[in-house]
Amino acid sequence: MHLSSASSTRRHRSGRAAGLAAAFALALVAGTAQAADTTPALQLERFATQAASAGQAERGRDFFNARHGGEWSCASCHGQPPTRSGKHASTGKAIDALAPAANARAFTDTARVDKWFRRNCKDVLQRECSAGEKADVMAYLIGLRP
Ligand code: HEC
Repeated sequence: MHLSSASSTRRHRSGRAAGLAAAFALALVAGTAQAADTTPALQLERFATQAASAGQAERGRDFFNARHGGEWSCASCHGQPPTRSGKHASTGKAIDALAPAANARAFTDTARVDKWFRRNCKDVLQRECSAGEKADVMAYLIGLRP
């Protein structure tokens, strides 16, 4: 009697712990799917601080549309203006609008921003973009209205 009630308490406790662990795991999964750890304005500030110069929208627009000697510009995949869905230049897959005013998810996840800047700049310029170039692009995108 004594023993069985003790073991039922234990079962109860471990059941609760498992429930908490499951809730925590769920929260982690939800967190990964939508990290939302930053904002477009904070990303502009980050790059401008790194570059020690404010982003310039007009310079960002020219940079965005230029081919930089290669086959693609940023606009080749993200469209011009990038306030609508883009289309991947080689796979044809749809790409969510890059301008924050047209896409609430754009520039809300620092790791994602870094990953795609790195990958896309290498595709277009055969090198990473400088902080100044990223600040210019951010200033351009933030200024766009759908
Ligand atoms: C070959 C196609 C292609 C080119 C060219 C390209 N991109 Fe992208 N870009 C993508 C794709 C695909 C994504 C991911 C979109 C998604 O998951 O919805 C992306 C996402 C991004 C993101 C992440 C935005 C966010 O927070 O969601 C940034 C920043 C970005 N691109 C910047 C650039 C810049 C700057 C250039 C030009 C130097 C450029 N891209 C050129 C295909 C491209």
